[in-house]
Amino acid sequence: MYTEIIDFYKNKNGFYKCVNAIKENKVVVFPTETVYGIGGNALEKEAVLKIFEVKGRAKDNPLIVHICDYDVEKYATNISKDVFKLINNFWPGPLTIILKNKNVVSKETTGGKDTIALRMPDNEIALELIKKSGCPIAAPSANISGRPSGTNAKRCFEDLNGKVEFIINGFDSKIGLESTVISMVDNNPIILRTGYISFEKIKKVIPNVKLYSKINEKILQNEDVMSPGLKYKHYAPKCDMVIINSSKEKILNYLNEIKSIYRNIGILCVDEHLEFYKNFSENLNVINIGKKHNFTEIGRNLFESIRKFDDFNCDFIISECFFQDFSNAVMNRLLRASSYNVITL
Ligand code: TXA
Ligand code: MG
Repeated sequence: MYTEIIDFYKNKNGFYKCVNAIKENKVVVFPTETVYGIGGNALEKEAVLKIFEVKGRAKDNPLIVHICDYDVEKYATNISKDVFKLINNFWPGPLTIILKNKNVVSKETTGGKDTIALRMPDNEIALELIKKSGCPIAAPSANISGRPSGTNAKRCFEDLNGKVEFIINGFDSKIGLESTVISMVDNNPIILRTGYISFEKIKKVIPNVKLYSKINEKILQNEDVMSPGLKYKHYAPKCDMVIINSSKEKILNYLNEIKSIYRNIGILCVDEHLEFYKNFSENLNVINIGKKHNFTEIGRNLFESIRKFDDFNCDFIISECFFQDFSNAVMNRLLRASSYNVITL
């Protein structure tokens, strides 16, 4: 299959080809403010099965249904006042809400679950695609399962070339981390995946919200979890990666110890430490993730940085520990990218 990249801002005809593709139950890669998504008509089994197939995604891992208005009642039931509070505060935006399923969408979309994940993205292209297609769009992140989520059209092409007909090229994702996922089933608010909208921000709107206890745990395949996504490998670079929760000086000592074992080491660090590591060796692949403590900048660059280490053919990656709170969305993704490999020196 030939994969065409369509520039939304320059090629309106191309965009309408994408709209038609959705109407014909094909899948289309499109930008959102969080990460790019690989979307299809959420109402149609044929389209949804294609998404699972192209991504190589486990069928029990349900998809988020993207909508372009506030009409959650069309797809869900038992909607509490708190749900509307969340919607009023955070939509359109990076918050996915799990509700009781009304079984309007295809059962493949929800992985056969009696709940449904809904989100209204804050991105002009995504909203236009949903509106013009006239259907809700089921979309997981646009990457091969297990790989870092795609935050620009080039990275999506890298993973999905030959597997989808169209990739809509918008800007790089503004946020770069996937949406926060909150379950509001039975009016029992629990955050199942951290994201750009933090626990603290949600707590201001619904004070009884909780953080799911297994959010940062390594889950066994047969374990019962509230969000199937937690069971699977995610965001991984092609080589091993370790998070070192220590000073840059100690990280440098560690580098000295291991440098003969590896051919091509990568290091992910804050802007302020870039020169420090570069002085160590010209051969070291140092990537600057952004300014210290700047959650927005670090979050935006995270997945792209991990993919760059693959471009450099690194055989080992060391990441600094950017935040001490591991339920912070950046640390949560980093933890999973490194297969929970954290050391303190
Ligand atoms: O920002 C995002 O959320 C992006 C963009 C494209 O919107 N999408 C995304 O989708 O990250 P995905 O499929 O990569 O992650 C969706 C997560 C998975 O962990 C899945 O298990 C969980 O949401 N999920 C979906 N439906 C659920 C449900 N009914 N109950 C519990 N968890 C659910
Ligand atoms: Mg994903």
